[in-house]
Amino acid sequence: MRERMRVLAIETSCDETAAAVYDSDQGLLAHQLYSQVAMHAQYGGVVPELASRDHVRKIIPLLDAALKQADTSRQELDGVAYTAGPGLIGALLVGAAVARSFALANGIPALGVHHLEGHLLAPMLEANPPEYPFVALLVSGGHTLLAEVAGLGEYRILGSTMDDAAGEAFDKTAKAMGLPYPGGPALAQLAERGTPGRFTFPRPMLDRPGLDFSFSGLKTAVVVTLRDLTLDDQTRADVARGFQDAVIATLAAKCARALDQTGVRTLVVAGGVGANRALRARLLELGEQRGVKVCYPRPEFCTDNAAMIAYAGCQRLLRGQHDDLSIRAMARWPIDTLTRPETFNPIS
Ligand code: KG4
Ligand code: ZN
Repeated sequence: MRERMRVLAIETSCDETAAAVYDSDQGLLAHQLYSQVAMHAQYGGVVPELASRDHVRKIIPLLDAALKQADTSRQELDGVAYTAGPGLIGALLVGAAVARSFALANGIPALGVHHLEGHLLAPMLEANPPEYPFVALLVSGGHTLLAEVAGLGEYRILGSTMDDAAGEAFDKTAKAMGLPYPGGPALAQLAERGTPGRFTFPRPMLDRPGLDFSFSGLKTAVVVTLRDLTLDDQTRADVARGFQDAVIATLAAKCARALDQTGVRTLVVAGGVGANRALRARLLELGEQRGVKVCYPRPEFCTDNAAMIAYAGCQRLLRGQHDDLSIRAMARWPIDTLTRPETFNPIS
């Protein structure tokens, strides 16, 4: 185990270009992010090919900006971490190629990091971070899962979604309601001034045992309700409120179940939907009721960012794990195939 390390990180798995510098002694020194949201908005969703091309344009200036913000020269870096998957393959390849080449040129190790491990560990960047073991609710645009986290690289999946991810359900429902892309945050904002209880949608999977999720039926229920409505501003807000309340009730109930099942006393909430104010408030309340510590990243570290990749990469690099000279990019990469960094064998 190395004593200390300063790591540069790059994240380009979807529609955000991001770079960060993390120091194991001094904490986060810099993080920079460029969102492509305005570019994709005219198409109503992320266009993968455009995403890749825009990453190419933005990554080097962002990397320079991060080093400048951290007041760090290349010679002071001890390693490079980058998101190797899961994500859009073309987008991932841009970050992976830049990170791997940068590491080679500067004679330092590189490591491909799992995007979801980054999300799971993001609360470690905050004051009063969680201690292992914890239960993690990971709710993003691409994934919804509950995991028991025993330590770095020790992830036991307790439940996941059978269809849409929670963020995807937010986005698709928002689209059906005629909200502009990106729909999730817009729907959440609308829900804040909606009347609770005017529309009650089904709480998916609550009547069944287990910790899996399903959101596509809820989305359909909203679409069917919308058909018979004249959508004035308040009605739209009330529908948004009904949808959001159903999602939050389901997520909170499954978190409670996971805490009961594992006996773990800490809950971590991460991923883009973790930025949702009402969800944060509900889960904090759940924690207070049960004497469970609830930890979140700040909202900007719930959505995609490079700070979380820098943290996760640094923990593994400190323990001696690193890649060979290959550029790693995987559109799919199941998180339960990750292992503890101590099992890394540089010879094999
Ligand atoms: O983690 P993330 O930035 O990207 C993925 O790895 O998927 O998550 C993005 C997702 C989107 O579906 C977005 O609509 C959702 O997170 N999201 C929200 C909020 N902010 C972002 N959903 C509900 N309420 C929010 N405030
Ligand atoms: Zn993400």
